[in-house]
Amino acid sequence: MQTLTITRPDDWHLHLRDGEALKAVLPHTVRQFARAIVMPNLKPPVRTVADAAAYRDRILAAIPAGQRFEPLMTLYLTDNTTPQEITRAKESQFVKAVKYYPAGATTNSDFGVTDIRKCNRVFEAMQEVDLPLLLHGEVTDQGVDMFDREKAFIERHLIPLKEQFPNLRVVFEHVTTSDAVQYVLSANNVAATITPQHLLYNRNAIFQGGIRPHFYCLPVLKREEHRLALLQAATSGSPKFFLGTDSAPHPRDGKESSCGCAGCYSALHAMELYAEAFESVDALDKLEAFASFYGPDFYQLPRNTEQITLNKTTWRVPDEVPFTESSLVPLRAGQEMTWQMADANLAKEG
Ligand code: DOR
Ligand code: ZN
Repeated sequence: MQTLTITRPDDWHLHLRDGEALKAVLPHTVRQFARAIVMPNLKPPVRTVADAAAYRDRILAAIPAGQRFEPLMTLYLTDNTTPQEITRAKESQFVKAVKYYPAGATTNSDFGVTDIRKCNRVFEAMQEVDLPLLLHGEVTDQGVDMFDREKAFIERHLIPLKEQFPNLRVVFEHVTTSDAVQYVLSANNVAATITPQHLLYNRNAIFQGGIRPHFYCLPVLKREEHRLALLQAATSGSPKFFLGTDSAPHPRDGKESSCGCAGCYSALHAMELYAEAFESVDALDKLEAFASFYGPDFYQLPRNTEQITLNKTTWRVPDEVPFTESSLVPLRAGQEMTWQMADANLAKEG
């Protein structure tokens, strides 16, 4: 296959940051995606509908002239989130979900939940108004091996949570293990997003000839058998799995450091990365539904009507792109890609 034209996709898990960083990265996402679920882990986090409204306005102001993009907002769940805020969120129409970070699990998660049971009244309210819960599904228990934290989260927290709130709609974000895939398939009202890096790489990538900080994200890359399970899930045609890049920009010096930040930057070439992953198992015919149908179906939003085109051609990913005072090293920097997204205007004319 030499060209692939599909319905314009959406990104159901994205970090856009704020201020100058937001202005630097937003054009990349807008070029590829019509909408995105925007993560609330700013400093300080987006905790209220008022915070989300203000952040949404800043995102809208940063959209390049003449382009269309719809930010779908989320609230950051804390120990102090109230059921009243959930009602307000639902009424706002622009807040589409609430994000759970275990305190200390990842970037800017210091305000996160210290004990998931503290949120029961909030989960009850979310179940009642049907507002989805997005999970960073890792335990923070230092006694649990880094590579087992997702599995432990399922057993310790997710299974009990779903037993208590069977109608609460949950997105298990950026799943990284076959355990998560199996759980998602077995549970009602649970879907999952999958990132390009977890489809394309296993944990060897972090240590290939030396330490490679640009492959470090959370949850961390896992063994090959897990990557294969994710690829199978993404290309299976199950509507429970859809696209969420988790593109997470950090300045170059923040990643190339004695204590480097977690996050892979893929907004520049997300669809090309996914196309490569799907092609590797001869499943390009499954890409459109994963990227453009199952996400809006889960969020009960209309599917997009525009289209994008990907061409089979080789090009080199830049070593870095400008980012505030520093630069940003994209996933696969300096290496070749085999698919390239056509410019939106060219696609329309052609
Ligand atoms: O790798 C990650 N980066 N994982 C997360 O959960 C957060 C994200 C970020 O905000 O940088
Ligand atoms: Zn994320």
